[in-house]
Amino acid sequence: MREGRKEGPGDLKTDGMIPRRSLGLDAPPVSAVGYGGMHLSIQDRPDEEQGIRVIHAALDAGVTLVDTADVYCLDHRDIGHNERLVARALESRQGDRDDIIVATKGGITRPSGRWETDARPQHLRVACERSLQALGVERIDLYQLHAPDPRVPLAESVGALAELQQEGKIRWVGLSNVSVFQIREAETVAPITSVQNRLNPFFREALAEGVVEYCAGRGMGFLAYSPTGGGRLNRKLPAHPVLQPMAARLGVTPHALALAWVLARSPAVIVIPSARTVEHARDSTGAAELVLSDADLSAITAAEFSRA
Ligand SMILES: NC(=O)c1ccc[n+]([C@@H]2O[C@H](COP(=O)([O-])OP(=O)(O)OC[C@H]3O[C@@H](n4cnc5c(N)ncnc54)[C@H](OP(=O)(O)O)[C@@H]3O)[C@@H](O)[C@H]2O)c1
Repeated sequence: MREGRKEGPGDLKTDGMIPRRSLGLDAPPVSAVGYGGMHLSIQDRPDEEQGIRVIHAALDAGVTLVDTADVYCLDHRDIGHNERLVARALESRQGDRDDIIVATKGGITRPSGRWETDARPQHLRVACERSLQALGVERIDLYQLHAPDPRVPLAESVGALAELQQEGKIRWVGLSNVSVFQIREAETVAPITSVQNRLNPFFREALAEGVVEYCAGRGMGFLAYSPTGGGRLNRKLPAHPVLQPMAARLGVTPHALALAWVLARSPAVIVIPSARTVEHARDSTGAAELVLSDADLSAITAAEFSRA
């Protein structure tokens, strides 16, 4: 095993697969590095054949968690673009289809391309039906409330997901963009399997505000979104003064270092990087096996990551 690579303390025994982590108490383990489909369907997206190649590259490399959303699309006329793409990519995966968990979301709309919240129960119900169709399934594996809607009591939004779960349309309920207070409130309404919030070296609020720690304590998976910084900030990684020399020394990419750092925050963390190229998808998946020394982790923790 070369320097910088070994199985991490929070990882389950894998028998040759990439390391897996628990998605949540009542759910099976999934690859510690998932795949987020957003950039295959929003502005600057590649053509659909390229999108399928990228999803297949991630799956071929061992990814078993694919994150999507009804609103990963251009605008309201294109709702479900990413879900349909994921469904198409999975059509040819007869061998490992049962092993792959697809997580989608409801609670946001895209009027004329804008991003607006709508987590009213009636909207979530319609959105869930549409996602079932777009994904071509009878039951969605993980259905996440995309974001709380300030106009709607959280208990009402989560209550709608609990009903959909009882009706067999959703297997597990997840939350996204929530505080510890909101997770606690949601737990009084439905069993919460996982939480998806932003976490990367530039944005550490999920650590500072205790969401990651809370999820770990409750046995919930924490799905770190934008784990390399997101569409704009990830481009700062290759020239970063701490990551660049560390990456050269270890023979990995700065993006892989960022993912390894996020994964090292807690055994509850699963990262869901996006990619529009096969090369990036493969590189990110490889980060599941990259475990950094305490000194390298501390150096990244102490480094400045400007959001400017
Ligand atoms: N719940 C929410 O509100 C929410 C919000 C945002 C995102 N998400 C989820 O999180 C996923 C990821 O978030 P994100 O797209 O904002 O951030 P990200 O994955 O940190 O960054 C996106 C871009 O970084 C580049 N990248 C990633 N890994 C790379 C690697 N190993 N080498 C080189 N470049 C790499 C890719 O560029 P290329 O495209 O050029 O390959 C990718 O498009 C989304 O797909 C979505 O599933 C959820």
